[in-house]
Amino acid sequence: MRRRPWQLSLILGLSLLLWECKKDRPQASTPQCPGVDTMTITYQGYVADVMRQHCTSCHGGSNPSKGIALETYDQVKNAALSGKWYASMINGSMPPSGKLDDCTLAKLKRWMDTGYPQ
Ligand code: HEC
Repeated sequence: MRRRPWQLSLILGLSLLLWECKKDRPQASTPQCPGVDTMTITYQGYVADVMRQHCTSCHGGSNPSKGIALETYDQVKNAALSGKWYASMINGSMPPSGKLDDCTLAKLKRWMDTGYPQ
């Protein structure tokens, strides 16, 4: 089958469009942390502390920000399952005081990837 010129320009146009979209999206690459791939990260042993230190002052109590409480295992797991929990941290919008460091983010991701151990 011979490609017609309009087909080629369509392909070219679509590629350019995809490229432009990619370029504009903020880079949310996987945070690096040596050894994290072999770690066991649990909610009780790690995640709860990070939430207490960085999140529950706003996402807790009787009127949590945006209606999202992050004080219990179920609350954090559900927030994580929604996709917004990790996204908000990796894109740097949460906590508002500044992005968490790479190792913390990598450990939180490890917790999700290993099935939210309690
Ligand atoms: C200083 C207060 C404060 C802290 C600390 C804070 N947040 Fe938030 N968070 C907010 C507010 C306010 C909003 C609502 C923002 C909006 O609607 O624009 C929000 C929104 C969110 C959302 C919803 C985002 C969305 O797309 O709907 C998530 C998820 C979230 N925060 C997670 C976290 C996590 C995880 C932490 C800790 C790493 C954290 N926040 C720390 C105040 C805070």
